[in-house]
Amino acid sequence: MPLQSMVPMLQKAQAGGYAVGLFDVHTLEGVWAVIEAAVEQRSPVIVAPFLASRRAMAAFIREQAADAPVPVAIELDHGQDFNAAMECIRAGFTDVMLDASTSPYEENVALTRQVVEAAHAVGVGVEAELGHVGRGQVYADVHARRATFTRPEDAQRFVAETGVDALAVAFGSAHGVYKGQPELDLDLLDRIRASVDVPLVLHGGSGLSDDDFRAAIERGISKVNIYTNMALAALKAIRGRLADPEVSYVEVGQAVQVAIKEVVVHCMGVFGSAGKA
Ligand code: CO
Ligand code: CO
Repeated sequence: MPLQSMVPMLQKAQAGGYAVGLFDVHTLEGVWAVIEAAVEQRSPVIVAPFLASRRAMAAFIREQAADAPVPVAIELDHGQDFNAAMECIRAGFTDVMLDASTSPYEENVALTRQVVEAAHAVGVGVEAELGHVGRGQVYADVHARRATFTRPEDAQRFVAETGVDALAVAFGSAHGVYKGQPELDLDLLDRIRASVDVPLVLHGGSGLSDDDFRAAIERGISKVNIYTNMALAALKAIRGRLADPEVSYVEVGQAVQVAIKEVVVHCMGVFGSAGKA
């Protein structure tokens, strides 16, 4: 079917108590893996192409989605500025994230609002981030981490001031591989959930346990971003295939596709989006 914005997908997920996965992809194998998984699981899905040629990737994803009987959205993940967002909108992305979470609050509001105004004028959804989801590499520093958590009163103000469609929040998750044990502040998530109406997004999902995911979704997360688990599974598959001296380049690519698809299928089951398309 034609591409669809993630906004109605996430609103449906929020009402239904499940979450839709966003999967970052670098290659065509990644796109095939994610869309195949979505079709097999009858799941809505959000694809985020991470490539210099986002325009070409968007065209490719649009063609793949057209043949799929499930809704597919394309989002710019962690867009750095207004121009990046506009470039992706012109390339046919259905949604964009503007991540100004390391900027001071007022600057984050101003940048996000600028993107929301332009994006909404052409029917594109916008995700922003408030508080800052840091990196798993420096996860051990608990105090630094807590200082960047989302404050519920700020979230309420931020959503009202920007008109954003979805909000990425910080309550203990981190990007990349966690150094140490991930700890989610679910009470904080409860308070954030109670303070705003928009779908909430969990970044840094890789490395969390299935129970962590279920708890966060039960407390109001409607979208989960996944990258690292797919990357690690792909790397493991490559190493495994390279052990065979006769292996062909094509087989290595196929092994990557199978490995990524397995991760995505697993996520769709845990997130509860399977069967919801
Ligand atoms: Co992220
Ligand atoms: Co699992």
